Amino acid sequence: MIPTSPHPAAIVTGAARGIGRATMNRLLAAGWSVVAVDREPVVGIDAATEDRVLAVQCDLADPSMPSEVVAKAVGHFGGLGLLVNNAGISGAKSVAETDDGNLAQIMDVNFTAAFRLTREALRVMQPGSIIVQVASVLCIRATPGTSAYTASKAALAGLTRQVAAEYGPRGIRCNAVAPGLIETDLTAEKLKSDAGHRRIWKDGTPWPRLGRPDDVAAAIAFLASADAGFINGHILVVDGGWSAGATAA
Ligand code: NAI
Repeated sequence: MIPTSPHPAAIVTGAARGIGRATMNRLLAAGWSVVAVDREPVVGIDAATEDRVLAVQCDLADPSMPSEVVAKAVGHFGGLGLLVNNAGISGAKSVAETDDGNLAQIMDVNFTAAFRLTREALRVMQPGSIIVQVASVLCIRATPGTSAYTASKAALAGLTRQVAAEYGPRGIRCNAVAPGLIETDLTAEKLKSDAGHRRIWKDGTPWPRLGRPDDVAAAIAFLASADAGFINGHILVVDGGWSAGATAA
């Protein structure tokens, strides 16, 4: 799918692994240049594309980082056509168990950093540019014990609609993907150790397998492409049917 943006440079946060890494690879294959942001080093970039990758290692919870990241993108590639806010952390506590520290930690990364990056990107983006937020299917449906995470992703869905309404008239699209359970480092341990979690997600997904990072990356690449040119303010669920209905079991 061909980039339509006026500038072929994209920022992808959380690009060191998982969904972010798969997204970076998809976008590179589609012709984008990528600012790969992560608190971990982004290693193992294919030599054939490394001249189109700028790795920026930083903690996005630091309030000064989002503006620095956008400035680096513009300084290095001369502009910014796509922002993918993917970096995120999980948290497994009920509402009553969530203290201010847990709440701040999750909101700072999953929502506030994404809001700040969105704001900084909008200040430099030209008409035709695109923003994709990586929310979660938990922005439309809840499970017990994911309170701050669920709230942070619902906030991101609200931001998606808000940006669509405010910047659509200027030709900037903003959409979100809402993945169901995707097998990554974020979910591996809990899937292995928590039978209840396995029941809700693995047994509860009416599809023969769980999601893979590339399932989400493909949806993000679609939203960033000309094929999605009239899609604005949409939450694209990528969950194998988990939110659609229960399995027979
Ligand atoms: P992951 O844990 O495999 O990768 C997340 C990446 O974000 C890591 O490389 C990590 O270093 C980076 N990161 C985290 N906090 C950061 C910070 N403060 N500053 C800079 N980088 C930071 O996670 P995964 O599974 O690839 O998830 C990516 C996104 O997709 C997250 O927003 C997550 O909430 C969302 N998601 C994931 C689902 C899943 O089942 N894996 C389901 C629904 C949504």
